[in-house]
Amino acid sequence: MVDVKITDLRRKYTRSGLLDENLPENPMKLFNQWFKEALHSEVIEPNAMALATVSSAGSPNVRMVLLKGIDDNSINFYTNYNSRKGQDLAANPFCSCTFWWAELERQVRLSGTVERLPESVSENYFQSRPRESQIGAWASDQSKPVADREELERKFSEIESRFKDQEIPKPVAWGGFKITIQEIEFWQGRPGRLHDRIYYIHSSGKWNRQRLAP
Ligand SMILES: Cc1cc2nc3c(=O)[nH]c(=O)nc-3n(C[C@H](O)[C@H](O)[C@H](O)COP(=O)(O)O)c2cc1C
Repeated sequence: MVDVKITDLRRKYTRSGLLDENLPENPMKLFNQWFKEALHSEVIEPNAMALATVSSAGSPNVRMVLLKGIDDNSINFYTNYNSRKGQDLAANPFCSCTFWWAELERQVRLSGTVERLPESVSENYFQSRPRESQIGAWASDQSKPVADREELERKFSEIESRFKDQEIPKPVAWGGFKITIQEIEFWQGRPGRLHDRIYYIHSSGKWNRQRLAP
């Protein structure tokens, strides 16, 4: 049993907010600024984001992934293309992501269209990863059942011996996805539950901005 009253769990937000006169036309400017502030704060894994996908049957799925790059109007992450999320994205190339930077009382949510990053980009990133992570990518047939922990560890050792003293190539089914952002919302916790919500949507080649009720 939980020994606290969950209905009483409530945080008082104290931070100053998003002033309309300071909002940029391009939300990526604000995203970069907030991400930089998260990097230099106490936030653990500021690049962790919840990624929601939708299967071919229309059922939603959400899990954490790590943001690995920010571009003009896109962000990217890496995964196994055969995983459950990989299959969802092949069937339905749209996704939605949420960052929660609790220590800054900030949430960013975005959604957009998804495509694979070029193989050369995924290859370069794979080669920059620690050897252990490279072996892990080979050893894990992500999202598939495994008999037990030993099976995974045995596979890891097999891959380790197979590539002993060699560069480890990127597995064919492993790589990055680029999310081209169509909508993005910045949420700043404010006193009295009057939080700031600034929503941007990209249409006809430009960004439109609105303030939304919290
Ligand atoms: C903080 C955190 C970061 C993660 N980053 C990644 C990632 O970048 N790529 C990835 O494939 N899985 C990542 N995972 C694991 C996923 O959450 C998930 O378990 C895995 O990708 C399988 O998801 P799927 O079966 O829905 O495809 C991360 C998990 C956590 C908790």
